[in-house]
Amino acid sequence: MNTILIGLQWGDEGKGKLIDILAEKNDLIVRYQGGNNAGHTVVIDGKSFIFHLIPSGVLHDKKICVIGNGVVVDPEAFLKELEQLKNNSINYRNRIFISELAHIIFPYHRVLDVLREGKAQRIGTTGRGIGPCYVDKFSRCGIRAVDLLNKRIFSQKLKDNLAEKNEILRKVYNHDGFGYEQIYKKYIMFAEKLSPFIKDTITLINRAVDSKKKVLFEGAQGTFLDVDFGTYPYVTSSSSCVGGACTGTGVSPTKINNVVGVIKAYTTRVGEGPFPTEFKSKLMEEIRGKGNEFGATTGRPRRCGWFDAVMGNYSVKINGVNSLAVMKLDVLDELKNIKVCVGYKYKGKIFKNFPADMEVLTQSRPIYQEYAGWKSDTTRVLNYSDLPVKARDYLERIEDLLKTKIGYISVGSKRNQTIFR
Ligand code: GDP
Ligand code: IMO
Ligand code: MG
Repeated sequence: MNTILIGLQWGDEGKGKLIDILAEKNDLIVRYQGGNNAGHTVVIDGKSFIFHLIPSGVLHDKKICVIGNGVVVDPEAFLKELEQLKNNSINYRNRIFISELAHIIFPYHRVLDVLREGKAQRIGTTGRGIGPCYVDKFSRCGIRAVDLLNKRIFSQKLKDNLAEKNEILRKVYNHDGFGYEQIYKKYIMFAEKLSPFIKDTITLINRAVDSKKKVLFEGAQGTFLDVDFGTYPYVTSSSSCVGGACTGTGVSPTKINNVVGVIKAYTTRVGEGPFPTEFKSKLMEEIRGKGNEFGATTGRPRRCGWFDAVMGNYSVKINGVNSLAVMKLDVLDELKNIKVCVGYKYKGKIFKNFPADMEVLTQSRPIYQEYAGWKSDTTRVLNYSDLPVKARDYLERIEDLLKTKIGYISVGSKRNQTIFR
């Protein structure tokens, strides 16, 4: 069985924790989109690992980890992550591969990302150069991993790109621009270090699929950050939904038969953009503190709010989710009452489907159903039947609203704080 694991909200649902758990029963773990804007946390023996580019299954030795063609790769970030593995004595030799077709992030991408935020509509990006790199990919001037390995091609492409980028940087942003020599030398050095990892990953993954090995596709970001289906323009620049798993790896949809949708028991978002169920200040502080809701990549405080079943339904539909994983249930342990959004009201009209119009989304009022909280500690619960009745009621309400079964419940960041149903 080949599985896509996908975030159903605005990212940070707890995908990293679950990938690490599911990796045990899979052979390959494959990232298919995004880049080091992602921050996936895995906690083992009290130690916290944050993966930005390398698949979160890497802590299991012998598992093959692939960075697919749909990912944008910052070589510096990749090498830093390898260093983290090395410092923790994790052997990664011959089991981490980067697609030769993956596009490479350059310093001008990072600078353009940050400068654009100050000039155009602010998105609250991670500043990692993700958007500008994807822009180059679709403008057909991007530099891919395979291009880095061919000095003649790389040199020409870099010159062409710098000629254009420097003009934009100087004329639009009053920035000094970048010299060719320095970037060329630095990236040739990166190319040498990266070359053992760069591979035809299309053949690698499809061979594994053909020989009945199990592939786990690791989504980054979440459904509402998807460039097509998210709260555009407050989204990332890639296809974080299921479709991205095919275009970002070269695996046909006929080969994928399972989709796990990951949700938090509440909702969070980092950066700008509409958020209908966002908490007011007191509850915001409380949940942010309890859930330690600070970005794994940028450290920014995450915005927090109630669980939104309108969003949940939309995500389940788009991604064809087979089973849900509900994370961070424990964060709600102390609440007296818990709300779930079941619709939006705008100018007297009720919306049950997620509205595309940003004005409707920002100005509509959520319609809530309210439940009594369970007011007890769930962090040590190992079996579903041992959860407080009110916690089970809450979970079963989510199942009803999303018309999808819950397969996993997480009550803490550690591996053993997971309930399998
Ligand atoms: P990802 O981007 O989806 O992988 O999620 P992040 O790693 O950015 O954020 C999830 C955070 O919640 C991490 O700090 C995890 O260690 C933590 N976490 C995951 N599951 C649980 C849980 O069930 N309870 C609590 N309290 N924390 C969790
Ligand atoms: P993981 O994989 C949460 C958000 C940024 C910003 C928007 C665009 O850890 O869930 P970008 O740098 O991608 O151009 O920023 O997307 N964003 C994330 N938010 N989790 C992530 O990844 C995110 N990756 C990007 O905050 O609002
Ligand atoms: Mg994250």
